[in-house]
Amino acid sequence: MYQHRAITEDLYWIGGNDRRLALFENVYPIPRGVSYNAYLLMDEQTVLLDTVDKSVSEVFLENLEHLLGQRQLDYIIINHMEPDHCAALGQVLRRYPDATVVCTQKALAMIGQFFGNQPVPRSRVVKEGETLSTGRHTLTFLTAPMVHWPEVMATYDSADQVLFSADAFGTFGALSGNLFADEVNFETQWLEDARRYYTNIVGKYGAPVQALLKKAAGLDIRMLCPLHGPIWRENISWFLDKYMQWSSYTPEEPAVLIACGSVYGHTEDAAFLLASRLAERGVRNIQMYDVSVTHPSVLVAEAFRCSHLVFACATYNAGIFPCMETLLLELKAHGLKNRTIGLLENGSWAAAAGCQICSLLESMQNMTVLEPVIHLKSALTEAQLPQLDALADAIVASM
Ligand code: FEO
Repeated sequence: MYQHRAITEDLYWIGGNDRRLALFENVYPIPRGVSYNAYLLMDEQTVLLDTVDKSVSEVFLENLEHLLGQRQLDYIIINHMEPDHCAALGQVLRRYPDATVVCTQKALAMIGQFFGNQPVPRSRVVKEGETLSTGRHTLTFLTAPMVHWPEVMATYDSADQVLFSADAFGTFGALSGNLFADEVNFETQWLEDARRYYTNIVGKYGAPVQALLKKAAGLDIRMLCPLHGPIWRENISWFLDKYMQWSSYTPEEPAVLIACGSVYGHTEDAAFLLASRLAERGVRNIQMYDVSVTHPSVLVAEAFRCSHLVFACATYNAGIFPCMETLLLELKAHGLKNRTIGLLENGSWAAAAGCQICSLLESMQNMTVLEPVIHLKSALTEAQLPQLDALADAIVASM
């Protein structure tokens, strides 16, 4: 049964929701599911903006066919060729072979890569600033390379001031009837997933996102239509500000994240004593995590949010405790920079974690390690308590 929804008098959401998928991109847990948004513009000519993942292709095709009725599909705009948005393209082309695919040169090449045996009968390759008039609407194409993938573009409808922003401004989380961000408690119930989506999926590409934000700043935007999650029509500048912070690797707030990699609990005990000292000095909302039980995607998002990161880590196999090493490599892979670091290492006979963490941090940009670094030998001693005080003082002084 079709599930399309009207957005304006002639624009429709025709996507689908997946609440069963365990891991998005086969990596990221999504307990709240995910939506794959596609849009249909019913102007004098009809325009489909992106398709969907194969998991929801059936409802998407029903939506499309029901809305089009006897009308032809004139254009298919491909803003992003990743399979979570283009898996249904082959089926659409088979049903509507006369539709013209509008996309960047790179996207056209990717259609060939993904759908080798599926010819694209009609296509129009567009460059930055080119337009397509469909009747009342004029669509302008804004290239957005590496706002996740190299072929990406965004599409701006100047008639209704709508920006179809591809992955940008998306979020994990299936839609539950409410289509618009102003219909849900976004800040309390969605922001965490939006941050985890941005930082893990697009976080590495801060500079390209900044370039897109610059283009967006020159447009009058009344509505943001991303490929995942709710549509924005109110308070857009609040969400743009979040993107500005995330993409410039600016901490969202002065806050401390403590990540523990502890085998028998001694390293974690010392980290907790540090956390308590921070609390006694007035630091609020300290977040302490065990890297072995918290998914790295949660910690990557938290590291983008917080100004200060404390790594408390056991030595393991003459190196960094495995789950901590994974976290650090993830932070590096996602381009995190501009953070202040506290460090506690543990080694019962040949401590190596601290040294190796420091070299990893040196290979990232603008990561400042505070003194003192705390060296545990199996467990914290009474004599080391002043060092914990000194580290807590240093963290507070730098906040
Ligand atoms: Fe939602 Fe980059 O795909």
